Amino acid sequence: MSEVNRNYVLSDGDAAFRAELDQAIADACAILKGTLPKFADGDVYPRGYKNGKWGVAPNAQPNYWTESFWPGLLWLAYELTKDEAYRQVADKNVLDFYRRVVENDEVDWHHDIGFLYTLSSVAPYKLTGNKIAKEAALIAAYSLSRRFRYRGSFIQSMGADGNYEPQNYRFIVDTMMNLPLLFWAAEETGDQTYKDKAMRHLRTTLKYLVREDGSTYHHFLMDHATGGPIRGLTLQGAHDESFWSRGQAWIIYGLAVAYDYTKDESLLPEFVRVTDFFINHLPKDYVPFWDFIYNDGDDEPRDSSAGAIAACGILEMARLIPHDTYNMEKYLRVAKEMIISMMRNCKTTPDMGVEALLLHTTPYKKGNSYDTSCIYGDYFYLECLLRATRNWENRYW
Ligand code: GLY
Repeated sequence: MSEVNRNYVLSDGDAAFRAELDQAIADACAILKGTLPKFADGDVYPRGYKNGKWGVAPNAQPNYWTESFWPGLLWLAYELTKDEAYRQVADKNVLDFYRRVVENDEVDWHHDIGFLYTLSSVAPYKLTGNKIAKEAALIAAYSLSRRFRYRGSFIQSMGADGNYEPQNYRFIVDTMMNLPLLFWAAEETGDQTYKDKAMRHLRTTLKYLVREDGSTYHHFLMDHATGGPIRGLTLQGAHDESFWSRGQAWIIYGLAVAYDYTKDESLLPEFVRVTDFFINHLPKDYVPFWDFIYNDGDDEPRDSSAGAIAACGILEMARLIPHDTYNMEKYLRVAKEMIISMMRNCKTTPDMGVEALLLHTTPYKKGNSYDTSCIYGDYFYLECLLRATRNWENRYW
């Protein structure tokens, strides 16, 4: 068995691949730099993409979860280029997210607070030691931890805090990528209840939400009276028993990060189960359909963001375990193909005059949002380019 190589970089030893990645990074940063003035005040964020341009929205949109992917992108670009222009805006975003959390503006009820505060606040704290960012992230982690329900052992996704109406007593696969905020808070404060809640939620997810074949439900409804399971269902997938591809990607990456925080080896076969399902349902060009019930020959949109998220999860796990264990060599071959396909079939270039980096994402097919760009697609695309070219020591998650 080979050794763990925390410095592993996917493009090492492949000069042509590295050159293509470097060009993709240069293109992405040039586009981002051009978009920067539109968001320069640090209190507005990209939301909604139309005719090649981002819409502009304030922080704390009801029911929304993506504002932090903008500062996340800026921090990635800052790491890649050392250009202070990105940092200046992202530092303003820190203050805006601090305001949001202390004013409890769309925070307390929000299950995606991990997405929001990991990238907007944990990332700058890790990169620059910003104390305001740290405080914001710790308040957010406390808020997320309060959504943990002892009866059933999960983080409740739907409904305002304290709302136990039967239809809201449920959890979702997306929460797997909110758990890093709790793991981080446990390390930062020494308070192990954060980690304990994250692990309990994760175990409940593996028990009920992951199906026998490694596929996942999007949502899982629990019985408030007993804490027992009721049934799996979906919001964003094609139907309750289908295989929403972005959800499958969230659990791949979530398990990789959870493994790093816990070194709990029982998570590794689970990582294999969910990753096998993902890679075994990819079409020939390696860009996932929005739901894995579709494949080559189906006239349905792709979700390139799911591929970017899954590639990041595989590249994270590649830093944590030897590559001749748990199918890692196979997963790395697929991650490379997914990244190559994103660069050749989904990426934008500066001459296109558009503001997004990644095409062909499907935020919400049933809401008629498909074959478009989205800010988290851009974020994970740039994260996987960074991961494929560098040893990323400051993982934000
Ligand atoms: N709410 C997370 C997602 O749409 O993937």
